[in-house]
Amino acid sequence: MNQPRVSIIMGSQSDWATMQAATTVLDQLEIAYETRVVSAHRTPQRLYEFASTAHEKGIEVIIAGAGGSAHLAGMAAAMTHLPVVAVPVPSKHFNGMDSLMSMVQMPRGVAVACQAVGEAGAYNAGLIAAQMLALGNSDLSQRLQTWRANQTDNVPNEVA
Ligand code: RP5
Repeated sequence: MNQPRVSIIMGSQSDWATMQAATTVLDQLEIAYETRVVSAHRTPQRLYEFASTAHEKGIEVIIAGAGGSAHLAGMAAAMTHLPVVAVPVPSKHFNGMDSLMSMVQMPRGVAVACQAVGEAGAYNAGLIAAQMLALGNSDLSQRLQTWRANQTDNVPNEVA
């Protein structure tokens, strides 16, 4: 694959079942990405090294998925000027409400773009990352507009 422009990070391998959906639109629009396990509490040094150097490695958008007391996205955002898109992963005890609140309630001064809980949020994280990248790339913008038009065309008028 080409030089990754999007980094999809997650707190645990167990998040992959949800976070895999973030790759759908990136694959369809031929946007190169990488996937990594980076835990804010289990591998804080790995998080520091990743977030503080991502921009030097050509990454333009970070997608961060985590569950529970999900500080991954906020901590990553604290250490980079790149946009960070957060995906609250459904959790065992609170069905992702804890993940959502951890991610969506960022205090002023450091932003994360929090998506919906779960697979739809992961899917849309890939989509919004593509939209961000398309701002500076007319070819990608065209592919994205075609993708959207196809989606619209594929909504049936009648219930089968
Ligand atoms: C978080 O704890 C991860 O993001 C994951 O959603 C959750 C559970 O992790 P595992 O115990 O499955 O590794 O750090």
